[in-house]
Amino acid sequence: MTEKRCKTAILISGSGSNLQSFIDRVGDGDIEIVVVLSSRPDAHGLVRARKAGIDSVCVEPRDHVDREQYDRAVAAELERWQPDLLILAGFMCILSPWFVRRYEGRILNIHPALLPAYPGLHTHERVIEAGDTAHGATVHFVTDELDAGPRVVQGRLPTLAGESADALAARVLAIEHQIYPEAARWFAERRLQFRDGHAWLQDKRLAEPVQFEFDADGKRI
Ligand code: GAR
Repeated sequence: MTEKRCKTAILISGSGSNLQSFIDRVGDGDIEIVVVLSSRPDAHGLVRARKAGIDSVCVEPRDHVDREQYDRAVAAELERWQPDLLILAGFMCILSPWFVRRYEGRILNIHPALLPAYPGLHTHERVIEAGDTAHGATVHFVTDELDAGPRVVQGRLPTLAGESADALAARVLAIEHQIYPEAARWFAERRLQFRDGHAWLQDKRLAEPVQFEFDADGKRI
């Protein structure tokens, strides 16, 4: 990062409510959202970006022969803004090893589960099915392995008996909006780093992610 503010690209595929949580915090810290990149032209997040006056671009997977060619097209677009940090916010494309190496240590993702539990899709349904008493979301650095990079922070909340997957998803999403901009801020302030395959916070290697506890209403405890 050569300038004071951390030039941040946010990659989306859908609603973009996490993107919105970053937009709402702009001015708060060292993050400058320089571009929003979507894999889908109809992603509502593109509307959010336009409303906020942020540059946006769409790169569709179907226009490219394979994952790496797609990722090269994404990187070519991103480079117009020279981002320091990439925030995956519901970006539903699996990144190629080429892309992960290209931006090594500079890609964060949020996943709606307490990783390493429940990587992949349909996390809320699986948590209910298993009868877990706690659920949440994890911010982690992105590596080649899906949903398995070094974890940075987890937000945890209690599950409620008889709750639907949609209701649980909404409660988890609300805590995502609190923990993700916070983790990105640590990165922008250079307190959070990726070194030797691990996440480091304030020069201490994170053996476990930072834990934020929330009550059932999404209030930080
Ligand atoms: C969020 O719940 C995010 O955790 C999830 O997609 C949703 C995007 O919502 N990401 C993944 O499942 C990645 N594995 P949003 O578009 O409203 O931010």
